[in-house]
Amino acid sequence: MSGPEGDKILVTGAMGQIGTELVEALRQNHGTSTVIASDIRTDLKEERLADGPYVSLDVLDTDSIVQLCNDEGVGTVYHLAALLSATGEKNPELCRRVNVGGTISVLEAARQCSFDVFSPSSIAVFGPDAPKHAPQITALHPTTVYGETKVKGELLAKEYWNKHGIDVRGIRYPGLISYKAPAGGGTTDYAVEIFEAALQDGYYECFVRSDTRLPMLYMDDAIRATLMLMDAESDSLGPSRAGYNIDCLSFTAQELADAISNEVDGFRCDFSPDVRQKYADSWPDSIDGSVAKQEWTWSPRFDLDNLVREMLNGLSIES
Ligand code: NAD
Ligand code: SER
Repeated sequence: MSGPEGDKILVTGAMGQIGTELVEALRQNHGTSTVIASDIRTDLKEERLADGPYVSLDVLDTDSIVQLCNDEGVGTVYHLAALLSATGEKNPELCRRVNVGGTISVLEAARQCSFDVFSPSSIAVFGPDAPKHAPQITALHPTTVYGETKVKGELLAKEYWNKHGIDVRGIRYPGLISYKAPAGGGTTDYAVEIFEAALQDGYYECFVRSDTRLPMLYMDDAIRATLMLMDAESDSLGPSRAGYNIDCLSFTAQELADAISNEVDGFRCDFSPDVRQKYADSWPDSIDGSVAKQEWTWSPRFDLDNLVREMLNGLSIES
């Protein structure tokens, strides 16, 4: 979609794991000066996002979002600012404030400035009572605070679309695996940390059990899915537009460790579950992405072996 009021794009939470790569992709597609990166942090600006516009922005500050979007002619906001599951469980009040409050703030600004919004959801919307191969439509009873905030995010997106005509789209991202920016306080972070540990130490102590199976996706695929959804014709999207399940990978922590062992001689992984095991156990093993496939033709490109090779190559080049 192209924004109704202007051509510029604003990314909130742009210094995070997804934002770092999404800004890069958007700047390649739309031009560097078109994409304004923003975050509450300022520390990594030079390193990661220095090639284009950057503003320091707290998503809870609706007035500043409105002013920026009016001044710059922003037509689309990719709203990524949030706290992830493990950080969220440690500080539930802040998690609710940033995740729900931040989404309301962006949607209220959208109502005033008429921009389109991408607001990601998560596999954390599902609770332990959902089928282990989670369908698009099922009861959503998450047992993490983070999951609750993501269900609320989907409901808010639907409300603003139905009542105010704000085009808000979202994907229930699975655990995302990437090497360009560190993962930010999530339960699925073991599937990221394990690569750096394999290369640096030949050893990783994994914080979930070996048989923990979760839906996962390589970041290139996640970025491609995001751009595809945002490019889709509005008429082709049905009632799941606020939170699509997407086809992705599904592997256990042991299967991931084995795939890395095939590439890194002598790599060893032990498993010492901590509190994050409980969050992982409450999520599905895999998800059914048939609605996304049907409505906007999504399918992933990276399987586990390709993902492992890309991660190890990428990290080796970066170091
Ligand atoms: P991240 O933690 O890496 O990045 C989030 C960014 O938000 C950080 O840079 C942080 O500084 C910023 N932020 C926090 N509070 C803010 C505030 N008040 N104002 C402005 N910025 C603020 O997270 P991510 O992995 O990039 O995730 C982005 C989105 O995708 C989130 O909504 C997350 O729930 C969702 N998601 C991520 C994954 C994953 O595996 N990475 C999976 C499912 C869903
Ligand atoms: N990857 C995220 C997390 O673990 C799920 O949304 O928190």
